[in-house]
Amino acid sequence: MLLEKIQDIRNEFRKEFPSIKNAADLENLRIKYLSRNGLVSSLFDEMKNVSREERPSAGKELNSLRDEINAGFLQLKEKFSKEESKEKVLIDPTLPGRIVNYGSTHILTKTLEDIKAVFKGLGFSVYEGPELESDYYNFEALNFQPDHPARDMQDTFFVSKDFLLRTHTSPVQIRVMEKMKPPVRAIMPGRVYRNEAVSARSYCMFHQVEGLYIDTDVTFAELKGTLVSFAEQFYGEGLKYRFRASYFPFTEPSAEMDISCYICKGAGCRVCKFSGWIEILGCGMVDPNVLKYVGYDPEKYTGYAFGMGIERTTMNKYGIHDIRLFFENDIRFLKQF
Ligand code: DAH
Repeated sequence: MLLEKIQDIRNEFRKEFPSIKNAADLENLRIKYLSRNGLVSSLFDEMKNVSREERPSAGKELNSLRDEINAGFLQLKEKFSKEESKEKVLIDPTLPGRIVNYGSTHILTKTLEDIKAVFKGLGFSVYEGPELESDYYNFEALNFQPDHPARDMQDTFFVSKDFLLRTHTSPVQIRVMEKMKPPVRAIMPGRVYRNEAVSARSYCMFHQVEGLYIDTDVTFAELKGTLVSFAEQFYGEGLKYRFRASYFPFTEPSAEMDISCYICKGAGCRVCKFSGWIEILGCGMVDPNVLKYVGYDPEKYTGYAFGMGIERTTMNKYGIHDIRLFFENDIRFLKQF
């Protein structure tokens, strides 16, 4: 009886085996024949009902059936797993590549690095100061009169009566001079804040670079020489430049420096507001009152200072028309640089 059943199952297996085409079929085959409740083990269960005489031959048949199914199973298993690993390394060279977006230096950082490189080459060191400043450093020691309009809440973010977010990097001049004896030759970059309506031209926060040189016998001619050399290295050779008289509380005399418009070459266009000139910085000879505040003898020492906005400088150099672009982190803007 059992011998017949074994033969039936063997026939069934042999018929089914050639139709196994993939790993899923093979798994179904395994479950059907070889699992704990599969056909082979149910045949083994029936061995206990087999008569003594029949038992050896039935056992032999059953073992050979199990071995046959096992061997078939293992053979296909190996075949399918080889095929699968081949599939995994298959590369389709016609697929488009994946684009990897790398971060890059923000254009303001790049401008500052370029400015620093020029001034380092001219012998300047780099210093930084705090963004939260006292009225003393931001205004008083820089010779601002008590009723100066910049001291108004309208223009300055006051944190308390005596403390504020610095409105310029000039207070770092005072801090550097307090710590050092002349000669001092330094640039001082950093972030500054103004209580201004945000527009294409102005933002409540921006960056400046301050410059300072103090020694015996420093002249206005040296100021001009240094700044012209800076402009030529930073903006390019062949530009025209001019100095216009101006006013700052901490310099006397004071000036603003213009370069000829890089777009229209002086003919007049929208960027230079049809003047042919672009203002790039403020500067002047350090006021003797400022030297007195830091304990330098104004009879012995003279010096010059200058300051420029990094956003404005970047806008000038690259023809950017809206200061807000620097702070919006729009990838379409950032990736142009
Ligand atoms: N602190 C000035 C400002 O914020 C810029 C400036 C002008 C700095 C003249 C200077 C200077 O050192 O000499 O507009």
